[in-house]
Amino acid sequence: MNTTALPTVGYHLNHPRLQHWVQEIARICKPDKIYWCDGSLEEATRLTNEMVAAGTLLRLNPEKRPDSFLARSDASDVARMEDRTFVCPVDKEDAGPNNNWLAPDKARETLRSVFAGSMKGRTMYVVPFSMGPIGSPFSHIGVELTDSPYVVVSMRTMTRMGQDVITALGNDGDFVPCVHSAGAPLQPGQKDVPWPCNKDTKYICHFPESREIWSYGSGYGGNALLGKKCFALRIASNMAREEGWLAEHMLILGLESPKGEKKYLAAAFPSACGKTNLAMLIPPPALSGWKVTTVGDDIAWIRPGKDGKLYAINPEYGYFGVAPGTSEFTNPNAMAALNANCIFTNVALTPDGDVWWEGLTKQPPAELTDWEGKPWTAGCGRKAAHPNARFTAPARQCPSLDPAWEDPAGVPIDAFIFGGRRSTTVPLVVEAFNWNHGVYMASTMGSETTAAAMGKVGQIRRDPFAMLPFCGYHMGDYFDHWLDVGQKAENRPRVFCVNWFRTNEKGEFLWPGFGDNMRVLKWIFDRVSGQIGATESKLGWMPRYKDLDWTGLESVTPKTFEKLTKVDAEEWLAELELHKEFFDTLEDKLPEELSLQRELFKKTLERNETQNGNETQR
Ligand code: GTP
Ligand code: SPV
Ligand code: MN
Repeated sequence: MNTTALPTVGYHLNHPRLQHWVQEIARICKPDKIYWCDGSLEEATRLTNEMVAAGTLLRLNPEKRPDSFLARSDASDVARMEDRTFVCPVDKEDAGPNNNWLAPDKARETLRSVFAGSMKGRTMYVVPFSMGPIGSPFSHIGVELTDSPYVVVSMRTMTRMGQDVITALGNDGDFVPCVHSAGAPLQPGQKDVPWPCNKDTKYICHFPESREIWSYGSGYGGNALLGKKCFALRIASNMAREEGWLAEHMLILGLESPKGEKKYLAAAFPSACGKTNLAMLIPPPALSGWKVTTVGDDIAWIRPGKDGKLYAINPEYGYFGVAPGTSEFTNPNAMAALNANCIFTNVALTPDGDVWWEGLTKQPPAELTDWEGKPWTAGCGRKAAHPNARFTAPARQCPSLDPAWEDPAGVPIDAFIFGGRRSTTVPLVVEAFNWNHGVYMASTMGSETTAAAMGKVGQIRRDPFAMLPFCGYHMGDYFDHWLDVGQKAENRPRVFCVNWFRTNEKGEFLWPGFGDNMRVLKWIFDRVSGQIGATESKLGWMPRYKDLDWTGLESVTPKTFEKLTKVDAEEWLAELELHKEFFDTLEDKLPEELSLQRELFKKTLERNETQNGNETQR
């Protein structure tokens, strides 16, 4: 084996600590070769050509989808695996009930044994990446070692990757070490499979104290592109707590009024609940004076500024978006971003070499090859694309990209929005009475589970701040941190909760959603600018029918609106029991403020008065 970690010719590297670490990992994993990525287009082209030859990627029709590829994963490796994801601080209590915990020495022992020789017969790629614009005070650097070329080319789209990052590191810059192996070593002469992974053994481990990530056995998404959930959320949430900032599962969007006033909003929704769609929203024609611009669609790093406002960056460089349901009707901006230079994973293939997924067109094509590579015909009863099929697309290809999306100083946030997928109980939109009340609402968020994680789909689970799978420390401490950040920020954002997913008796969505969500964003914009009224409900401030702009929308009658915004005290009292059940799991780490908020809320609900009390112009 070549154990000398020699960079590619022309690579400018002089960072002894990094070089030493790369050697050490190579000694454990025993790859045939070590390759330092420079992030160039030539490099990406070479790697994709190699993957096409190996059968890992299929080149899509260059006339329809230039420089784009289809990957089919192993059927056992299609989503994040929460039960194989571990957070490993020394003290179990620091991981909290929201994380699977392994004692760090135990975890290290296990990892050493599974990683031993795990890259045999393969190349170990060194992938230097920056989360956030290189040089921004918000940004942090990581280096991922991986034996998966699919991960390398995906990281090139999802992060700023390559030589520039090495240059930024200098001789001694800090980086988060991230080790990834598919866990499928090759014996001499053994034929490779299109999607190497380890069917039996998977570990996605985080060490918050030493700020390290080790991921074994999966090549899919957040399990393998370690800059995303592992670094930018689980490790970064730990950094953020120590340093007084926030690492959140949030989209960031710019909202410009017809008068040219602009505000930025950040919104947290659980996985596959509409962040990408909202971040790229196109207002309906009747509200065409309004403009939505995209800063990010999945992750926000947020810091207090000198003016007492909170500023946010999107640490990512691309989108790893849910394919099913994405279409010209639901998200034309995403569709435009998918025209070229994309990798599609687990979507279906059309006979003319293009991609298809459920919801892309109203009528499915007559014949397809499904995500597993099997022949598929319309009406055969199977899904053609996997429900968690995804695309990897460069952010620069999104037509709605905000001009400040790479501003190293971030964008000022005027409102936080929290939302889940709830077919009942939760109204279309409500504004918190104040910051602490907003933290209560976010901390008790529930959502019906989706295909973005392995497990049952459609059950309600508490997903506080949409961070349940991503908060790298005790959720009680996290709530405390949020209370604290708000207390310190003099110009803190207002807090709103939304629910696009309420249904009628037939199970149909009551709210049209997608572009029409603009109507709710407009109300939020006007609330933040103090330009519109609301009514006080037991949950918080809510719009009256007359407060929303209904131009061009007939399907939502005042009666439907009533259903959408109904607050049923009985339902909420039952909901409060679920809040308590969840709070109890946090034991003495639950901030007292939140139990007080709950008691107050309970008393309000028990008071037998009509829903509509005070009205306000502010
Ligand atoms: P992750 O990337 O997993 O973090 O998720 P995301 O929140 O970015 O998910 P995405 O935007 O891709 O959500 C996709 C799902 O949400 C699809 O099933 C969409 O149809 C659905 N969706 C998005 N917006 C709306 C909406 O306004 N109304 C309804 N009913 N569904 C929506
Ligand atoms: C999510 O599940 O919230 C995602 C996809 O954004 S993954 O990166 O696979 O976690
Ligand atoms: Mn996500």
